[in-house]
Amino acid sequence: NTSLEQTLLGAIRTIPDYPRPGVMFRDITTLLGNARAFRRTIDELVHPYAGAKIDQVAGIEARGFILGGAIAHQMSAGFVPIRKKGKLPHETVRIAYSLEYGLDEMEMHKDAVAAGEKVILVDDLIATGGTAEAAVKLLRQIGADIVAACFIVDLPDLGGRKKLEALGVDVRTLIAFEGH
Ligand code: PRP
Ligand code: MG
Repeated sequence: NTSLEQTLLGAIRTIPDYPRPGVMFRDITTLLGNARAFRRTIDELVHPYAGAKIDQVAGIEARGFILGGAIAHQMSAGFVPIRKKGKLPHETVRIAYSLEYGLDEMEMHKDAVAAGEKVILVDDLIATGGTAEAAVKLLRQIGADIVAACFIVDLPDLGGRKKLEALGVDVRTLIAFEGH
């Protein structure tokens, strides 16, 4: 009976020097393609909320969609996409956020979450936390009650978890990789 950590370490592929020299890229496609590891990951992310009434799961484009859809289904919750700008057809709220190089913008539909609804935010990985922080601000702008932000991978040296915790968000991650 392999520990969760062993399962994740075995299923997440590390590509050195991608996308540029010195970066260790944590590739979850191998985890997604491993049926046992994928199920175990989703089960682990869902289980703390077994008794809780979660209304919506918000996933961050693109990798957060894959996990968020599976988690929402298992929680019998709705799913809300937080998208890169220009993809959503109805009225949106939009926010700029910084990436390693330059700025991008993300948005969500204004009516995607009703005020006071309980929401779990999901992405595959938290690094600097810039992406997740922007998502938290968007969700709060439309009145969401963020129960937690969940990620498979934490890169603690980049400070993302602390950034979210400073905003009063409960952060849950399954495995941490030191260094970047
Ligand atoms: C990656 C990852 C997270 C984000 C984390 O997404 O999937 O969403 O970066 O970085 P941060 O904590 O420093 O903000 P990316 O922007 O590469 O896009 P993708 O998910 O569409 O591939
Ligand atoms: Mg992403």
